[in-house]
Parts: sequence; structure tokens; C-alpha cells
Amino acid sequence: MPTGCNDHQLHFTLVRDAERMEWFRRETAKKLRLLVRTGILQTLYPVFRRYVDEILRGDDIVFRNAPCMIVASTPRKAPCKEADPWIALSYFDLLAQANGLGTCWGGFAVHAFKLSRGFQRALKIPKGHSVGAVLLFGPPAFKYPRVTHPRPMPMDIL
Ligand SMILES: Cc1cc2nc3c(=O)[nH]c(=O)nc-3n(C[C@H](O)[C@H](O)[C@H](O)COP(=O)(O)O)c2cc1C
Repeated sequence: MPTGCNDHQLHFTLVRDAERMEWFRRETAKKLRLLVRTGILQTLYPVFRRYVDEILRGDDIVFRNAPCMIVASTPRKAPCKEADPWIALSYFDLLAQANGLGTCWGGFAVHAFKLSRGFQRALKIPKGHSVGAVLLFGPPAFKYPRVTHPRPMPMDIL
């Protein structure tokens, strides 16, 4: 698994304890509801506007009811701190899928963890590190009879 400049300073936190996952779910939902009610979420993160009803209803839009997650963090001064965590968890994603697990990227979870020192302490993120990427996983809830067929992405061959 490559890291920029061979930095190799990633740190991983694996959360597989059901009660801990539930704690993250509950605390995040509480914070999100507060941010929605005060209007802060809609102002700071317009991308979340479409989720307001789900948040107020109590749907788990952040962790998608997944039983486990893995969090990758890097030192704030790492040369490729943006890319390394996503690369690392992309390898984990392929490994998990190849072993029959279902996965979901936790982009919202990254935002939540970056915003709260309490979450960073609970995740045991080392001092000087920042959360880079989150992947949720567990036994798949659905078996898909076929894959999606997204529009092909354009490629120029020069
Ligand atoms: C960087 C990144 C962040 C994502 N964050 C979330 C998320 O927070 N919650 C979620 O349900 N899906 C998240 N996804 C999943 C995407 O919304 C999408 O479902 C996934 O990429 C599969 O795409 P497909 O339907 O084209 O196969 C994220 C995906 C990526 C690549």
C-alpha cells in the first residue's frame, strides 16, 4: 500500500464493538439535530440540506447502521495527508468486498470526526494527527442481482 514520500505514518482505528458504534451514532445524531435546529448546518454545509428531514426523523445518515468502521488518520504534517488515508482504505475496501463484506464510504463521518475533539479522543486518534478517511463495513444487508451501469466516464487518449 503506497503512501506519499514513503511516509508510512498512517494510524488506523477499528471500531467493531456494537456499543461503541452505537455511541458514535447517538452522539453524532444529537449534534446533527442541534446543527439543523439552529440552522448552522444548512448555512455551513449546504450539501446537507437534502438530509434535513432524515436527520430530524432520526435516520442514521452518517453511519448507515453499519456495525463496524475503520478510521484512517495521518500526521497533520504528512506530505500527502489528503491522499494517503483514501488510498489505504481503498485497499481495505477491496479486501473487505473480496471477503464477502459490504462497505460504504463515510464522507459524512469524516466531517463529524474532524469537528469534534470528543470524537477524536474516543477514537484514540494520536496527537498531531487528523482524521482523513472512514470506511463503514459489515455483513451485507442486501444481495444485488446485478451491478449498476453508470454513464462511462470520458477519457481522452493522447
Ligand atoms: C469520498 C466519498 C465519500 C462518501 N461518503 C458517503 C457518505 O458519507 N455516506 C454514504 O452513504 N455514501 C457515501 N459515499 C458513497 C457514494 O455516495 C456512492 O454511493 C458510492 O460511491 C457508490 O457509487 P455508485 O452508486 O456509483 O456505485 C461516499 C463515496 C466517496 C467516494
